[in-house]
Amino acid sequence: MLKLGVNIDHVATLREARYRNRGFGEPSPVEAAKICEAAGAHGITAHLREDRRHILDRDVWALREVVKTRLNLEMANAPEIIEIALKLKPDIVCIVPERRQEVTTEGGLDVVAAEKSLTETRKKLNDAGIEVSLFIAPDEKQIEASARTGSQFIELHTGQFAEEFHKAESGKRKAEIELPRLIAAAKQAHALGLKVNAGHGLNCENLPTLFRVPHLVELNIGHSLVSRAVFIGLENAVKEMLSLLRDYR
Ligand code: PXP
Repeated sequence: MLKLGVNIDHVATLREARYRNRGFGEPSPVEAAKICEAAGAHGITAHLREDRRHILDRDVWALREVVKTRLNLEMANAPEIIEIALKLKPDIVCIVPERRQEVTTEGGLDVVAAEKSLTETRKKLNDAGIEVSLFIAPDEKQIEASARTGSQFIELHTGQFAEEFHKAESGKRKAEIELPRLIAAAKQAHALGLKVNAGHGLNCENLPTLFRVPHLVELNIGHSLVSRAVFIGLENAVKEMLSLLRDYR
């Protein structure tokens, strides 16, 4: 079955909106992780940003204690955060861009430009028993470079697809450009031995269309789940998403 990783950053965003620098506050991303796992989520994703905009250090340590499925730490390829990851030992790290110069035109990590440094980071993390994923745009050159780094996974950036889907729905645009690119990228990555995840901007409306992309292992979904949880609760939101994911072939 296609797996669901729940990104709980936005639970922390809500907490920080009221309790920034207070050392406590609600809602708790750790409690959210427990609810998601109890509802059947296959993994929990949290992004420890260099600017600590939402998830804080104390969150990732507490998450490491409670997460029983898979903890996916999203992070920049930055020395301070790499040190934390090596001690924390999440099950998998997804390296994402946080600074302008690390980003390709489509918004994914520029693996071509940072291949050497990403390869070194990948080795350090693998040596500590942590799998590595690279968050990239569906671009041939980025996929080739990702394979050369020796990473186990790529996560295809679906932000552009989600934007296009929204415009097509509202009748402003008809052509599907990004979906064929995602399909080609997944096939290329699979042929190169990379496992393929996807994420960003995914929701119950655009998922059935995304399901035309082959070889997907896991989707990382955050904003739409936390948004839906405001109305129907987190447990129900996760269950609703999981029931959709069962249609993936
Ligand atoms: N995957 C990655 C690498 C991300 O950076 C994000 C956004 O934090 C997501 C998935 C989830 O995106 P969204 O919150 O739009 O579902």
